[in-house]
Amino acid sequence: MSHVVVVGSINMDLVTLAPRFAGPGETLLGERFLTVHGGKGANQAVAAARLGAKVSLVGALGDDAFGDQLHEGLGREGVDLTHVRRIAEMGSGTASITVAGGENQIIVVPGANACVTPADVEAAAETMRHADAVLVQMEIPPASVEATLRLGQQLGVPVILNPAPARQLPLAWLQLARYVTPNQHELAILLGEEQGADAQDFRALMRRAPCPLVLTRGAEGAWYRDRDDAEPLHQPGFKVEVVDSTGAGDTFNAALAVFLHEGLAVAVRKACATAALSVTRLGAQGGMPKLDELERWLATQG
Ligand code: RIB
Repeated sequence: MSHVVVVGSINMDLVTLAPRFAGPGETLLGERFLTVHGGKGANQAVAAARLGAKVSLVGALGDDAFGDQLHEGLGREGVDLTHVRRIAEMGSGTASITVAGGENQIIVVPGANACVTPADVEAAAETMRHADAVLVQMEIPPASVEATLRLGQQLGVPVILNPAPARQLPLAWLQLARYVTPNQHELAILLGEEQGADAQDFRALMRRAPCPLVLTRGAEGAWYRDRDDAEPLHQPGFKVEVVDSTGAGDTFNAALAVFLHEGLAVAVRKACATAALSVTRLGAQGGMPKLDELERWLATQG
């Protein structure tokens, strides 16, 4: 069983299903509204736990009703919450999400996630020391992301940096990570591209990144290279009917961490498959498969 430590955000997702996205100043009638558990850190923790990993989460919740529900939900999934702090007089993180035609738009209000400190990360050092992999994303303060990268390096534990939501990052951070896992848009931004992120040739972008990379390409799968001077290899995507792509990147990252000990190529293939299954159902965590479902499905894919 692999042991994964996730350092990251925990949100309540307020999801509206709509026929299409509203334009500026426009009001639309939606089709359905639901509250589901999310946050990039929590999603990665849940996805890894469903794949059979031992998972510890480092993060923060408010002292509100959302915080209670999220805490209980993560506990039910078997995630160790020793390092999740409850913050007094603070709301939990929320994400307002519109889903239309399988795509999503998301606005995150960090709430308690903004209170995750480098000291919280360091307090989890003993747990991290025994981990096979650590996952961290960008919905907690940058100083805490950096503390995670530095601690991972100090302890000799591989850290997977998922640079989402997109922002420009110090190149030194990229070199502290074992793998950086952007999509094309995030890669362009983290390298300081000012415009045309999606129009860029992703292979040219990959060549400019000074670190081992796993680049996610949605339905097209992923491109990866283990060293920063190696030619990228391609793992094609799996064909599925997309209901909701929210959390697909989180599921991918979690599977990558869980299966990393089987080698990068195997881990990327399983990560693509796990993410593909996750988009076939509604909600960030709603479609994340358990290990036996993944294995049965992969056996049908040749
Ligand atoms: O990656 C998907 C997640 O991003 C959602 O669950 C939402 O909470 C935001 O953090």
